[in-house]
Amino acid sequence: MNTNIQSIIASMTLEEKAALCTGASPWTTTPVERLGVPEMTVSDGPHGVRRVADVNDWLAGSLPATCFPTASCMASTWDVDLIHALGQALAEECIALKVDVVLGPGTNMKRTPLGGRNFEYYSEDPYLAGQMAASFITGVQSKGVGTSLKHFAANNQEFQRMTISAEIDERSLREIYLPAFETAVKKAKPWTVMCAYNKINGTYGSENHRLLVDILKGEWGFEGFVVSDWGAVHERVTSLKAGVDLEMPGPRERRARSVVEAVRSGALDESVLNEAVHRILGIVFKAAETSKGGSFDTIAHHVLARRIAAEGMVLLKNNGILPLKGQQHIAVIGRAAKEAHFQGGGSSHINPTQVDNPYVELQKLAGNAELTYAEGYPADTAFDQSLIDAAVNNARSTDVALLYLALPVSKESEGYDRPDLDLTSQQVALIKAVTSVQPKTVVILNNGAPVVMSEWINDTTAVLEAWMMGQAGGGAIADVLYGKVNPSGKLAETFPIKLADTPAHINFPGGNGQVRYGEGIFIGYRYYDAKEAPVQFPFGYGMSYTTFAYKNPKVSAASFKDVDGLTVSVDVTNTGKVAGKEVVQVYVHEHKSRLVRPPKELKGFAKVELQPGETKTVTVALDFRAFAYYHPAYQQWITEDGEFDILIGASVNDIRCTQTVTLQSTQDLPSLLNRESTLRDWMEDPRGKRVLEPLFEQFTAQMRATFDAHKDEVGSSGMETMNFMMELPLRDIFYFQEAGLLMPPEDLVDGLLTQVHGQTK
Ligand code: BGC
Repeated sequence: MNTNIQSIIASMTLEEKAALCTGASPWTTTPVERLGVPEMTVSDGPHGVRRVADVNDWLAGSLPATCFPTASCMASTWDVDLIHALGQALAEECIALKVDVVLGPGTNMKRTPLGGRNFEYYSEDPYLAGQMAASFITGVQSKGVGTSLKHFAANNQEFQRMTISAEIDERSLREIYLPAFETAVKKAKPWTVMCAYNKINGTYGSENHRLLVDILKGEWGFEGFVVSDWGAVHERVTSLKAGVDLEMPGPRERRARSVVEAVRSGALDESVLNEAVHRILGIVFKAAETSKGGSFDTIAHHVLARRIAAEGMVLLKNNGILPLKGQQHIAVIGRAAKEAHFQGGGSSHINPTQVDNPYVELQKLAGNAELTYAEGYPADTAFDQSLIDAAVNNARSTDVALLYLALPVSKESEGYDRPDLDLTSQQVALIKAVTSVQPKTVVILNNGAPVVMSEWINDTTAVLEAWMMGQAGGGAIADVLYGKVNPSGKLAETFPIKLADTPAHINFPGGNGQVRYGEGIFIGYRYYDAKEAPVQFPFGYGMSYTTFAYKNPKVSAASFKDVDGLTVSVDVTNTGKVAGKEVVQVYVHEHKSRLVRPPKELKGFAKVELQPGETKTVTVALDFRAFAYYHPAYQQWITEDGEFDILIGASVNDIRCTQTVTLQSTQDLPSLLNRESTLRDWMEDPRGKRVLEPLFEQFTAQMRATFDAHKDEVGSSGMETMNFMMELPLRDIFYFQEAGLLMPPEDLVDGLLTQVHGQTK
């Protein structure tokens, strides 16, 4: 096979190049047979392979594949090795099903729990999401199969999903909405990146030169190709110039023709087309190196799916009833016990190889215990009192009631957002009714994103968040309920008390073509933490059947240079009676920064397995970026000299140890002082302070005296005058004293600015 890409490009006609940049079918690229360029097949994604039986038929069903737990559950494992293993299994299925690139992972931020596709995304935290995405990608690609990191960028809602403009300030984009992509691109080198449908600050994801070319391909060094989301291209030539190498789906002959015409008329430089062709060919040939076909181990993958599901389930509440032990009569209530709700709707929907029945799996672990079943609620949002009455009768005389509650399928899907965070009114009434006759009631939830619980949680004995748990989730629930698996999942997103508490509430979903990200960098726990607002369950939270003690926190240096970073360690001991796993989380807090920062930001974590009584030292490395924030005026990540708390904890609200360290910034940033700068700006700028300090006493004393003399008229004391002056531009302060100055205030300021900008740090 001729893989000398340059010579192939040189031999290609303009028509062939344009055709290569558009799909041949909804799921395949265009081959160029005479030059030995094969077609390449792509398939959804992200938690299983949705390989359609006929690539030319949109509606053809898909071939059986393992449905792994969706991203909410994956992220709650906080286990990068497990996600890597999941990636490898996915790749094996791709190979068997003749798929070259799987369309995932999805790593958009969960800006609001209402987002319709939140089940497909990892987290509200960019660090965690970035680590998960990177592991997924390296897992898949280690087997010679490609990935498509999606949806780049700021695709955080379904309302007007193809047209809405996400209005985001630069700092929030850089600190919240881009970093998970950045980490995944730099660390894991995905073969492809999929651009988003929506606009970002007025420009479509598919026409966003700044995001696709300047940032993704330029700053981050992305070497693969950019594929459009399906139908995201509006004008092919514009999107090509903006960095969309491959348009999907195909065929789109008119689009290809428009590219040819644009090159002929001079509207499109052929070198732009050549670059896209180069990028696509690079991946097409790489994909062809992995031969496809054969079969995959359906049983082993089902077992893996069960393991991941059990590791991702989060025990939210447990008044000692779990793990179950010796109960002789168990009421199993809720249709989700017999019909597993294990995935969401839309493009990610998998045709599973098999599905665990939660009830059957429970019976397997329950031994001789008698299980009695009641449906509890209908499949939709209708209300049926008779189902509640039957459930109450069932629950009354049992040792425990297990309530399996799944959100109706219609409540969570790609294509539209959730209207609320509620269970159905029947489900709430069911919990109330069952718990009123049965004090030992465990609620098991199947949903892709948080539900509110304040109305009913106090009535329950235990609550297990089982997510959209994948095809083997029914068995995983039984494993956790019976303690075959000690739960170790921790929330990758905050569970709010009520919808109105959520950070984006008043800015969501927008209208008139725009959604304003008014909460800025304060999404998820960053917001609740800063507001000191109560939540139902915080980010990073999850219970275990054992307990852990944190001791002996250490940092590699009390004072360090930003470029050297820092290593943090802590001894974690399993202080309970059963083996278990703990997710140790490391947050940073800067004492004083020039721009506001969230009180805590996750910058590292590690999952550790411990036998009863065992202690292990957990080590987490923090690099430059762990301490930096994005400064829009410098247009870069900056660090500042000063103190940081390193907070080691079991959740964002459960900090067990704190170490305070001093950072020395090695950056020599230019001074931002200009004619508008206030006295405060001058005094906070090291160079400005040096230049101004000799003059400072003289003019502030004068000004204080003037104000003190007129204290009665202006009602200010000298001290308050200082505060008043700090907010004045220097020039305006000089105006007050113009009479005594040797030159006009502007010239004086300009002279000082020349001195400032002539200095180094
Ligand atoms: C979705 C993508 C998906 C693609 C192909 C789009 O509608 O947004 O996530 O990969 O369709 O099915």
